[in-house]
Amino acid sequence: MNKALENKILKQLNIFLKKKVPYPLHEPYFDKDDAKAIAKAFNSTYVSTVGPSIKSFEKAISKYCGSKYAVATNSGTSAIHISLLALGVKRKDEILVPAFTFVGTINAIMYSSAIPHFVDSSIEKKGIDIEKLDLYLKKIVKKKGKYIYNKNTGNRIRAIMPVHVFGHPCQIDKVIALGKKYNLPIIEDSAESLGSKYKRKHCGTFGTLGCLSFNGNKIITTGSGGAILTNNKNLAKKAKHLSMVAKKKHRWLFIHDQVGYNYKLTNLNAAMGITQLKKIEKFISLKRKLFKIYKKIFSPLKDSITIMDEPISAKSNFWLQNLILKKPNLLSRNKILKKLNDNKIFARPAWNLISDLKPYKKYPKMDLKGSKIFLKSIISLPSSQKVILSKQNKLKNLKIQL
Ligand SMILES: Cc1ncc(COP(=O)(O)O)c(C=O)c1O
Repeated sequence: MNKALENKILKQLNIFLKKKVPYPLHEPYFDKDDAKAIAKAFNSTYVSTVGPSIKSFEKAISKYCGSKYAVATNSGTSAIHISLLALGVKRKDEILVPAFTFVGTINAIMYSSAIPHFVDSSIEKKGIDIEKLDLYLKKIVKKKGKYIYNKNTGNRIRAIMPVHVFGHPCQIDKVIALGKKYNLPIIEDSAESLGSKYKRKHCGTFGTLGCLSFNGNKIITTGSGGAILTNNKNLAKKAKHLSMVAKKKHRWLFIHDQVGYNYKLTNLNAAMGITQLKKIEKFISLKRKLFKIYKKIFSPLKDSITIMDEPISAKSNFWLQNLILKKPNLLSRNKILKKLNDNKIFARPAWNLISDLKPYKKYPKMDLKGSKIFLKSIISLPSSQKVILSKQNKLKNLKIQL
């Protein structure tokens, strides 16, 4: 490893970022409209899970993404949990899911008493390695009637849950084709990819269900929040019912016809979501600019590192910018992380593989070589919209064609 690489990376970043100013990984961006919307919802006294902004936000999200229905929830994790339940996932059903993801994806599977069955990802494919998964399934699956079962555990394999990591669309058309081949529904974890498109179609609208997150670190935020996208009326109805403590509509009686969840987004959060969503195209264009800036400032180091680009046939929201080490190496990665964090640039590593963490170690998995490369090569850089907004003058000096 080039011993001075971490110093060179810091030097290049300092061309663009101010020295010794803290740069968080991702900050939300608010304007007066967000503040006004929250104040209005607050003054209306509808601060909880009833109020006009919830429906308006759901309509705005479904219109923007091009799905027939959107069900707002109080987090991305609860959106995934409810999606699994709405699909009818049962105890011990296995869900094919990348080991390389945020823990929330897997926790939602655990909450529904199903089993995560970890599959591999590829850095080139920006997510799930579908060809490898197909070969693996050929070996481990047995068919009984319409359904497929894991030969080793005897459990039914119930669904595939691809994740669009860092906002970049995975090869979702191939995932859909594999789902058809094995009669498996797809739940897309699109928590990070609101606004990203694959072949001109929004992430989250390819699968039977798609899940979004509006957590504080996402491209738009409601503080905490999420949404389920679907074109299936019945699933949308089920999801809404389950997320509202399964209470049947009645003017005064409390009738709950199954065990439901208190997962609804509040009116206060939804009000913020509406004004945030109005800014999403501006946010995406800022993030796409930031990608070009990082690409340019790191071009002198191109023998050692690259900046993660969007996949072919995709238009990414570039939610999180990533530096990729050409030679994947944990030691080098950690040295760079230390150098940047010591200098108040709060870069972060990629997630640990969930299959390596204690609570999830015992669950089935395929060979995860590709995911390990992901883990060893990625360093996420400060990616807030604010980074670029505060740097317009520097951009002129850098003579970057945006
Ligand atoms: C890939 C992925 N899945 C799921 C989630 C869960 O979303 P939330 O934090 O809103 O529960 C997140 C984000 O935090 C995520 O990044």
